[in-house]
Amino acid sequence: MSYVNVHDMLLAARSEKYAVGAFNIVDPMTAEAVVRAAEAKRAPVIIQTSVKTVKLYGCASLVATVKTLAEKATVPVALHLDHCKDLDLIRSCIEAGWSSVMIDASTFPFEDNVTMTEEVVNMARPYDVTVEGELGAIVGVEDDIHINEQESHLADPEQALEYVTRTEVDVFAPAIGTAHGVYKGEPTIAFDLLERVASQVKGAIAIHGGTGLSDEVFKRCISLGGAKINVSTQVKHSFRDSLSEYFQQNPQDYEPVKILAYMRDKTQEVIESFIDKFGSGGKI
Ligand code: 13P
Repeated sequence: MSYVNVHDMLLAARSEKYAVGAFNIVDPMTAEAVVRAAEAKRAPVIIQTSVKTVKLYGCASLVATVKTLAEKATVPVALHLDHCKDLDLIRSCIEAGWSSVMIDASTFPFEDNVTMTEEVVNMARPYDVTVEGELGAIVGVEDDIHINEQESHLADPEQALEYVTRTEVDVFAPAIGTAHGVYKGEPTIAFDLLERVASQVKGAIAIHGGTGLSDEVFKRCISLGGAKINVSTQVKHSFRDSLSEYFQQNPQDYEPVKILAYMRDKTQEVIESFIDKFGSGGKI
């Protein structure tokens, strides 16, 4: 179908009360798994790349891989740069052709977060690239960003509208109690905070930390305005676990092409199950 702008995709999702899945890829096979899952479910989808992944493959190679898949796809596909505080890398991704970038200046004081986010919004506008920004600090490890329990804090609802209004960010990611990585216990999600933020912020809202959340939590987050849900850890685990599974079943096999295809197909199954939970299936 096409390589699309994230912003429009998410506004449609918010108004129709479903969420677009944003899945972190680690290589061309995981990218293909995301696109195949979206096509199988007739869902719009976002392929996300962490900073580490961008550094491993380089901007040109990653964007070429995703654009080639997107242009052949029968559903809308977007490419998003996940948590990044390096403004030079953000600029490189914008210039290379990402359709969306996230500036994560959430660990800086509020005024610095606003200034850095504004800078990225100004950088992105001439290219029609969507910008996501975060307020509060989401606990856990995402790529090179480590936030421990003491450093983590929820978004300040008083500052949410100010942040979004001043920065003109397209997608807002408030820390609401979800976490990156594997949950150690039942997470306490601040649904009241999400509700308050969503009543003030009319644009798209992103929910981070999708791995391990219950169907009920997804449902409530979506009903309160969450239009983009990020899933990274589960994609990586599925990809890795499928490799061990393959070798258990085929201990003598050594043909990488067969192994990679198996890993892609297993990862696709997991992504399809998230699309079902997010209600984005059948929207295309
Ligand atoms: P998980 O790794 O917990 O799925 O979180 C993904 C995420 O929010 C990426 O920004």
